[in-house]
Order: sequence, then structure tokens, then C-alpha cells
Amino acid sequence: MPHQSSAARRTIRKAVFPVAGLGTRFLPATKAQPKEMLTIIDKPIIQFAVEEAIAAGITHLIFVIGRTKRSIADHFDSNPELDTLLRSKSKIAVADQLNSIIPKDVSCIFFRQAEALGLGHAVACAAPVIDEDEPFAVLLADDLMSAQVPVLKQMTDVFNSNGRSLVAVESVDAQMVQSYGVVDADLLAVGEVGAVRGVIEKPRPQYAPSNQAIVGRYILDGCIMAKLRDQKPGAGGEIQLTDALSGLIGDPGLDAYRFNGRRYDCGSKLGFLECTMASALEHPEFGPRARTLMQSMLNENN
Ligand code: G1P
Repeated sequence: MPHQSSAARRTIRKAVFPVAGLGTRFLPATKAQPKEMLTIIDKPIIQFAVEEAIAAGITHLIFVIGRTKRSIADHFDSNPELDTLLRSKSKIAVADQLNSIIPKDVSCIFFRQAEALGLGHAVACAAPVIDEDEPFAVLLADDLMSAQVPVLKQMTDVFNSNGRSLVAVESVDAQMVQSYGVVDADLLAVGEVGAVRGVIEKPRPQYAPSNQAIVGRYILDGCIMAKLRDQKPGAGGEIQLTDALSGLIGDPGLDAYRFNGRRYDCGSKLGFLECTMASALEHPEFGPRARTLMQSMLNENN
């Protein structure tokens, strides 16, 4: 194997997408289809996360899927019959668009998580393709990020400057902390980075060290895989990624990054609706008509 310089070695090229969750917050829609394949207008939410990763220079997309998630693998595979059909009908732009979802220099790797034992367990399923000293990204597709500079790109830029593991955070209402991993860190302004002194998964408000919640973007030192292997079940009886993050504090170090952009919680029905409405308003083709429609609906209801 050719020798790699340590700088090249530390470049983030792999991203893990844990997509094995059962989507219980979104039933009945997710009874037979993955929540990650729900669409915002015409694009599955997993594709937004994949595009964000590719924009940050990721070349290895590692999906940890469960039993009911085969359509995710199909979505990122080629579909020769459909391609031929579209081209025969002169729908060349659509065919080209489908072919370019995954650029030629990007690979997809799939692992099956046999049992839903938690987010930490899902990430650990990717251990066979992550070296112990290799930093990698984790993206939770439920958290759909809208930003001028893709949020993962913002984070790889921070990582490239200081080489420390990093979690994206935002401030949430005090009562909402129990839905998130929460960091003990100084209050950060947008774009700021600060050292994490502690993390706790889904604390009750009275035990939360702050109201800065981890959202679904992480850059992690490869050594977390060993920590996850030994991690005992935590909140909800699941193996929690947040608990393993504690092992990064101090040495090799863990920072929080208050990202610049907007997060939509597409794992919740209201968050998904909010994201759909915002995307409709911004849509290049029918944004103005969507606005008129929404305004007339509001007027009718007043
Ligand atoms: C997971 C993590 C949690 C994090 C959240 C972000 O929770 O366990 O630490 O804050 O994602 O969306 P989940 O939403 O799977 O319950």
C-alpha cells in the first residue's frame, strides 16, 4: 500500500449514515418504508444528507441499514431500465440528474444492523471500514440542514484547522433538552467552537448542563469505535453514541460547534411539515405560487 502522509491520513473521507432506526415517531408512514426515504417535495431526506457529505469532500458513504431499508440501497444504485426508458423519451436531463446523485469517484458501502440496539451500536457497525486512527463523519439524515455553506463542510473546515472531534450544536428550549444529547460547554455564538466538558443523553431539564443540544452531525476520532464496542446501554436501554463521546473529552479532545444554518427535525411530523413548507416557498419553479396558495389558505381560515 502506498505510504500516506499524516495530513492525508487525517482528511475526512468517510461518512457513516445510521439509517436503521424504526421511525416510530412517523407511523403509519414508516410501517413499511424507511423514514429516510420520506420526501421533501421530490427528494428523499437521506439524499439531502448524502449531498451535504459529498459537498464536504466525502468519498465513502457508509450506510448502516436495517431489515426494512433496502430501498435506500436501491435509491443510490443505478437503474438501467429507468435510464433507458427516460432517454428513449428524450428526458435526458432527468436521466442525467439521476445518474449524478452519486459521482463516479464516490462509493457506497452497506452494513446491516441486525438488531436496533441504539445509535452507538449502529455507528459501531461501520467499524470494519474505519481505521482506529482515522477520523470520520456521522450524519443523521433526520436532521436536515439548510445552510449557505453545507454544515458538514463547515465542520471539516474546523477539523482541518485543529484536528479535534466535533459535534454540531444549537440552543433549544429548556424543556426540549430531554430529546437530545446535551453538552456542558460555554454558550457559543453562531460559528463559534468551544471545548466540551461533559455530555449527557436526554437529560431531564433540571439535570441539563446547558440548553445546547447536539444535532445530527459529528466528526469523530476513529478511537471512538473501541469505546463503542465496550459501551454499556444508557438512556432508553440503548447503546448511546453520546455516552461514548464522553471518552473523547480531554484526550484526544471534543469540541462543540454552533453551526451556521437552519436545522429541520424531519424525524418529527411538525418538523417535516415545516421543512416541506420552507422548501415549497424557496422552490425555484413554484415558490411564488406556493406562497400565494399558503396566503390564500390562511386568509380563508381567518
Ligand atoms: C439522537 C442522539 C442525540 C442527538 C439527536 C440529534 O437522538 O442520540 O444525542 O441529540 O439524535 O437529532 P434521537 O433523535 O435518535 O433520539
